[in-house]
Parts: sequence; C-alpha cells; structure tokens
Amino acid sequence: MTATVLSGRRVVVGVSGSIAAYKAVSLARLLCERGAVVDVAMTPSATRFVGPLTFASLTHRPVVTDVLELDADQQIEHIELAEAADAIVLAPATANLLGELAAGLVGNAVTAIACASRAPVVVAPAMDAGMWTHPATQRNVATLREFGYIVIDPEVGELASGLTGIGRLAEPAAIVDAVERLFVRTGSLEGLSVVVSAGGTREPLDPVRFIGNRSSGKMGAAIAESARDRGASVTLVAGAMSVAPPRGVTVVEATTAQLMREAIIRAAPDADILVMAAAVADFAPARASQRKIKRSGDNLQVELVPNPDIVAEVGEMPDDVRPFLIGFAAESDDLEANAAAKLRDKGLDLIVGNVVGGPFDAIGSDENKVTVFGAEGPLTDWPMLPKRQVAERLWDLIGDRYRRRRTEGDGGPARTKGRRRS
Ligand code: PMT
Repeated sequence: MTATVLSGRRVVVGVSGSIAAYKAVSLARLLCERGAVVDVAMTPSATRFVGPLTFASLTHRPVVTDVLELDADQQIEHIELAEAADAIVLAPATANLLGELAAGLVGNAVTAIACASRAPVVVAPAMDAGMWTHPATQRNVATLREFGYIVIDPEVGELASGLTGIGRLAEPAAIVDAVERLFVRTGSLEGLSVVVSAGGTREPLDPVRFIGNRSSGKMGAAIAESARDRGASVTLVAGAMSVAPPRGVTVVEATTAQLMREAIIRAAPDADILVMAAAVADFAPARASQRKIKRSGDNLQVELVPNPDIVAEVGEMPDDVRPFLIGFAAESDDLEANAAAKLRDKGLDLIVGNVVGGPFDAIGSDENKVTVFGAEGPLTDWPMLPKRQVAERLWDLIGDRYRRRRTEGDGGPARTKGRRRS
C-alpha cells in the first residue's frame, strides 16, 4: 500500500443513531484504504441502523458499543481508545450527540471517547433540516467549535423524511479529506532545526530538597511533538516533566536553570527556531548544602540569587547565530503589558502569553488559552484549546513569520541551519 498521511494513524470513528450510519461504513473503509488503523465506537441507537459486525469485518478490529466494556486486558476500552487516538471522527453526529458533547455528557462509548481524548475531533452532523437549524443545535455546534472541534457542515439534499433541505451527511470522501488535513500541515518545518524547552527547573537546597514550580512540561512537549510531525529535527531541552517526552526527538535533560542554560546556549547557534516554553526558576539558593539540612527548631534563612536569563542571553547573540526566538510569558495579571515588556527586554521575535495561578491555570492543565504577541501587539484571538492544538496553531504562525523573515532578510536568521548537524 502506498504511504499516505494517514498511514499508521489511529483514527476512532464514532457512529451515532441516524439513517446516515450506513455512510459511516464507506467512511471506515476509505480510512482503512488510506492506511489508518480504524477503531469504531457506536452509540446503542447506531447499532440499530448498522450491525457492529459490519464495521468489525471491515476494520479487523473489535467495535466498542458499551461504555462499560473492558478489553481483553481488563482495561476500560473507551479510555484506551481515547488515549491511543490520533484523531476522532464523529459521523454521523445526530442532534442528540451534538447536545451531549456540548454539555459534556458521556453516557455512551462515543461521547466518552471524545470527552476523554485530547486528539483532534472532526464532527460531521446529519439530521433533519428543522433540527439542524434549531437554535439549540446551532448553539451546540458553536460550543463544539469553541472546543476546537472541526465541524463539517451537512449538505443540502434529499433527507430521510423525503423532504429536501440541509442536514444530509457530508460525503465520506469529504470527511476523509478533513481528517487528512489534520495531519497535512501547510506550515511544514521540513529541513529546519528546532529547539524547544519544556518543564520546570529544580534549584537544589540540599541533596533531597529543591525550589521548583508546578510546570508539567505538557505545553513544551506538545510543541516539540507538533514540530516533529511537521518534519523538523527537534531537540527537547527537558526540565522536570510529569509527561513523557515525545518519541523521535532528541532529549537533553536539564533540570536546573544552570544546566538548562548550558544546553540552550550550546544548541541555539545550530537551531533555526528556539521556543522557550520551560518555566525557568528566576532565583536559586546561593549555596546548596552538601548534607541534608537538619531541623533545628529555628527559622531557616535561605539566600536566593538570580539565575541567568537564558532566553535574553540568546536574544543578544549575533544575527548569524541567533535563532528565531519565541518566549512564553506566564502571568497572573496584566498579561498584555507584561508580555510586551518581556518581548522587548528579552529581545524576542514573538512571545506567547498565558495565564497562571487563577481560576484557569495554564500550568499542569491539558488545555491552554494563549495570546501571541509580536512587536506590533496581540496577533491572535484563539479560544481555549487542547495543548496539542495550541501547538499546531503556534507552528502555523511561527512557521509563517519565520519564512517571511528569511525571504525579507530583515536582519533575522538568513539561512536554514537544520541539516548542519547530520
Ligand atoms: O508545563 P505546563 O504545565 O504545560 O505549563 C506550561 C507553562 C505555563 C509553564 C508554559 O506555557 C509557560 O508559560 N512557560 C514559561 C514560564 C515562564 O517561566 O514564564 P516567565 O514569564 O517567568 O518567563 C518568560 C520567558 O523567559 C520564558 O520563555 C522563560 O522560559 C524564559 N526564562 C525565564 C527565566 C529565566 N531565568 N530564563 C529564561 O529563559
């Protein structure tokens, strides 16, 4: 089989109870033909339109119909699939399914998988025209779009009722195209060398204690993974992370600010683009005790000294070695003013602002709501999105700006450094 962008991708097809469920059979077949590993989940009502056996025979994989089902290894099936999925396609999606998804109701295998997964979701609704145009359905669709779901509007045509109107499921080929577009990125990073930092630093107080922060590394890992998928050669400079680094990237462990500085300063001259998503401690204990500090009953005074500002140091590198430079600003207040100041003071090309420490906290969360700032001010107005989707949008923007900088030759990096190391 010829390799396609879907080769080896895990795609979950969620089928709900509509007469259009029969078209999901063609959809599953087309996805299999393009090399995807297809798992089908069905709502109970979908099984009344098409038998699970049809999908199982086509995909050669078990079909999930029960939200309480366990697999052969006694794992909860819908959670396993949610975690393994590279993409989820809900087709056909009934008005009822849209309402459940928008409300976060997870009473069947399809909604449970969509809710539990962080993979991108494509939704192809199918229903009667009156249901589609009803304000409740339109509100639910708007909510799903805010979640970052890609909604393929239904088509106009003859409906099951015999009437003609809007509500017919989009053609399976069009749905497959939308799934493929998730993986084909216009902002290709082929041939570029990208360095991403992620996670928090830990500044030792003694052999067992440190001053650190709650950064999980999820944001930086998503950025590194997305760059990998766009063809970049990626180095992940990893602080303390609670998630595994993505496969296929070079990992350099750097759990203190000093170690991270060494790793970044070493890697930066060979990098085309550096994204500093790590939460680097601004201060470290002046001295780390060689022995475990004993409890004495007295107050303990710890002298803290400033750590090097790593990204600012890279910002001052000569133009011929300085990579295109993106910093993050983690702020609890005055995001725009603080981000603008950091952009300027640290000599960055772009800065990604996000909010920490409030009712929504970017740290540790699976989602993030970011605003990207350039010298001219805010550049984006994106909704709250899964971090992987934030990463995709960031690379669309960064790739675009980077290429523009190179073609305009306005003092930024003038060549691709990506293959220098090989
Ligand atoms: O890891 P997660 O749980 O997914 O959370 C993600 C995140 C909130 C940590 C991430 O999105 C984020 O905002 N990272 C930057 C955190 C931070 O240190 O922000 P800052 O505003 O203090 O620093 C500004 C920039 O300077 C950052 O790019 C930082 O990496 C860099 N910096 C900071 C201090 C220092 N000594 N050297 C630096 O290079």
